[in-house]
Amino acid sequence: MSRAITAVFDDFKRRVQGSFDELNALVESHKLVLTGNLGRNPRQMASYFWLTSHSISGMDSTATIDVCETGFNSGHSAAFFLELDPNIRYHGWDLGEYTAAKPAAALLQKKYGDKRVNVVWGDAKKTVPAHLQATQTKCDIVSVDGEHTYEGALSDLQHFARALKNSTTALVLVDDCCDPGILKAFKQVTFKDRLIQWHSKVQFAPEDMPRDLVPVSRSICHCIGRYLSPDDTSRVHDPDAKHATVAPTPTPQPKKWWQWLS
Ligand SMILES: C[S@@+](CC[C@H](N)C(=O)[O-])C[C@H]1O[C@@H](n2cnc3c(N)ncnc32)[C@H](O)[C@@H]1O
Repeated sequence: MSRAITAVFDDFKRRVQGSFDELNALVESHKLVLTGNLGRNPRQMASYFWLTSHSISGMDSTATIDVCETGFNSGHSAAFFLELDPNIRYHGWDLGEYTAAKPAAALLQKKYGDKRVNVVWGDAKKTVPAHLQATQTKCDIVSVDGEHTYEGALSDLQHFARALKNSTTALVLVDDCCDPGILKAFKQVTFKDRLIQWHSKVQFAPEDMPRDLVPVSRSICHCIGRYLSPDDTSRVHDPDAKHATVAPTPTPQPKKWWQWLS
């Protein structure tokens, strides 16, 4: 199994590197400014690949998969999602404060098509709820990597919690979760906003990810959770019982995390 997954990942990496090279060339030629991104951290990319691939593997192969992400920056994580599956539609939110952001969005729109890439500019605390409401966008996968503060992460997580497709168990990835403010927000939305925490502070790679997929590189630190779908009222269990919607017996945690996603 491991060799097959490695081959798929190697092929994916080649494709996504093509997009990273185009984005990096754009940044370089125009001396644009950008900040930290997925393209700079192979270990984080391997972890995200493992998680998102499993998450979408159970979905209808013809349905559109909506990825909602705060923090577009220079488009590297967007390119990652867009290369992952042709059915993925990317919805991004970003301040646009770095000069690379808008040209990078234009490049990705040209490459993948306007219908698959949309970035909303401005403060996500306001633009996420406004855009979700105006367009009725519903998310299958959520990635939080925008404002790196407690307030910013909390706002993103709470707004996305209200924009999920029925019958979807949405994967939630929160980057830089070792930041105390971000971790506090992640813990706060757990249960209350129907988010079930799977891992907090993944610093090496998700449990059960084949070790030969994990490149030796910089450390990573993200939180992983899933939102329960809006029509699922049976599995919300809050150990504190403070925010419990329904608290029957807790769902037994499966041994493999991808069983837990389905
Ligand atoms: C770490 S970068 C995102 C990296 C990107 N996800 C990637 O891996 O390629 C964070 C981005 O969030 C943006 N940002 C910060 N605060 C924000 C806010 N309140 N609303 C929207 N975007 C914000 C920054 O301008 C920056 O572009």
